[in-house]
Amino acid sequence: MMVDQPRENQEQCRALQEEIQTLRAQLDRRREEIAELNAELAETNKGVVVLYAELDDKAEALRQASDLKSRFLSYMSHEFRTPLGAIRTISRILLDRMDGPLSDEQERQVRFIQQSATELNQMVDDLLDLAKIEAGRISVSPAWFEMVDLFAALRGMFKPLLTTTTVSLIFEEPADLPRIYTDDKKLSQILRNYISNALKFTQQGTVRVTARRQDDDAVTFSVSDTGIGIAQEHHAAIFQDFIQIDSPLQRKWRGTGLGLSLSKKIAELLGGSVAMTSEPGAGSTFSVTIPIRFGGEQATPPSLPERRAGDRRELHAE
Ligand SMILES: Nc1ncnc2c1ncn2[C@@H]1O[C@H](COP(=O)(O)OP(=O)(O)OP(=O)(O)O)[C@@H](O)[C@H]1O
Ligand SMILES: [Mg+2]
Repeated sequence: MMVDQPRENQEQCRALQEEIQTLRAQLDRRREEIAELNAELAETNKGVVVLYAELDDKAEALRQASDLKSRFLSYMSHEFRTPLGAIRTISRILLDRMDGPLSDEQERQVRFIQQSATELNQMVDDLLDLAKIEAGRISVSPAWFEMVDLFAALRGMFKPLLTTTTVSLIFEEPADLPRIYTDDKKLSQILRNYISNALKFTQQGTVRVTARRQDDDAVTFSVSDTGIGIAQEHHAAIFQDFIQIDSPLQRKWRGTGLGLSLSKKIAELLGGSVAMTSEPGAGSTFSVTIPIRFGGEQATPPSLPERRAGDRRELHAE
C-alpha cells in the first residue's frame, strides 16, 4: 500500500501532462483559427472601406447632378421669361386695339395666345421656384398677419375665376385663430395651388377652405372638395414632381404637375408639412400644417397691451 503511492502519483502526473498537452494543442488550434478570423476580418474591413469610398463618390456625383439640374432649371426658366413677357405685352397691345381694330376671330386668336403665354409663364415661375428651393436660394420673409385678411385676398383672387354655378367656393371664417407669424405670400401660394386644383377637379359641389388650430404651436389649413378624388395607388406619389393622374378632367386642363410638389417644398421651408386624404368619386382634402410662429419666434405680435391680452385669450379658447 505504502509502496504503491509514488507510482500512483507518477501516473497521475503523466495523465495530467497528457491532458495539458492536449489542451495546449487545442489552444494552438484556436489561436490559429483566431488568426485566420482576424485576417478575414481585416480583409472585410478593407472591403468596407472601399465600399464607403465608392458610396462617397456616388453621393458626390448625385449632388453634382442635382446641382446641375437646379442650375439648368433656373437658367432655362430665366431665359424663357423675356420672350414670354414680350408675347404677353404684345397680345395686350393688340387686344387694347392700340394698333387698329381686330375682327372677332382675330380677337379670339390673340386671346388664345395671351392665355397660353400666361400658362407658360406660370409654369416657368413654378420651375424657377422649384430650382431656387432645391438650391437653397429661397428665403422666408415672415411677418405677423391675420388669417381673415389672407382668406379675403384669396376670395378676391378666385371670384373672377368661378365661371360655373355648379361649384361653390366657401371660405370658412377662421374662428379663434391667433395672428400668425410666417411668410404669408408662401402660405398663400400653397393654398392657391390647392384651391385651383380643387376647382379644376370638381365638376359639382363645394370647395371648402378652412383654418384650424392644431395645438399651441401649429395651425392646419385644409381645402376639401367634392370632386373626382384620387385612387389609393396614387396617394404616395401625388406630392412628387411632374405627377399627373390620367382622367378626362386632367386631359381638359393642362398644367405641369408641379403645383403639389412645390407646395410640399414650400410647406417644409415654413417648418411645416402637407397631407392628403382622398376617395375616388367622393372628393379630396389637401392640407398644410405650419407653425404659428415661424422659426420659433417668441415675441407676441406687435400690438397694444389690450390687444395682447386679447391674443392670449384666443390662444386658450378652443
Ligand atoms: N383636388 C384634387 N382632386 C383630384 N385630383 C387632384 C387634386 N389635386 C391634385 N390632383 C391630381 O394631382 C396631380 C398633381 O397636381 P399638381 O397641382 O401638382 O399639378 P397640376 O395641377 O396638374 O399642374 P400645375 O399645378 O403644375 O399647374 C393633378 O394633375 C391631379 O391629377
Ligand atoms: Mg395644380
